[in-house]
Amino acid sequence: MKNTIDISVSINGKEFEDSVIPRMTLLDFLRDKARLTGTHTGCEHGVCGACSVIFDGDPVRSCSLLAVQANGKSVMTVEGLTNADGTPGIIQEAFQDAHAMQCGYCTSGMLVSAHALLERNDRPSLEDIKEAIGGNICRCTGYVQIIEAIQLAATRLREVSG
Ligand code: FES
Ligand code: FES
Repeated sequence: MKNTIDISVSINGKEFEDSVIPRMTLLDFLRDKARLTGTHTGCEHGVCGACSVIFDGDPVRSCSLLAVQANGKSVMTVEGLTNADGTPGIIQEAFQDAHAMQCGYCTSGMLVSAHALLERNDRPSLEDIKEAIGGNICRCTGYVQIIEAIQLAATRLREVSG
């Protein structure tokens, strides 16, 4: 008897099909099947936020979903934040310019949470930003530069959107 399930997931705008075992997490699917290793594996039980992705428009922890739940859905990973030519997108550049990372382990999750916030709020308050990244743990930075990076990204995104 076949013990895998065929799924098709739109990842960063491209359709990706594969067979997965029913217990495979979306996190493992993204990293091991789709080879998108920007999404990081941290606690693997929904606490650290390192595995954050956008799932049908909402930020989720990909370690807490099964790959089969993504069948027919759309997922955006941190790789989807780059420009079309592969250069860093506005939020990624803001993180670089504000020195918002040290080891970088949390960074992809922070970027995804920042993107989710700025998609719905182009002028976030300090409290809005703290709330948006409240589920993302950073063990290095003390969060100050991450908050500054998100404020910088918000300013730059407003500039380009006119
Ligand atoms: S690895 Fe998913 S929340 Fe930590
Ligand atoms: S930069 Fe190291 S965990 Fe955030």
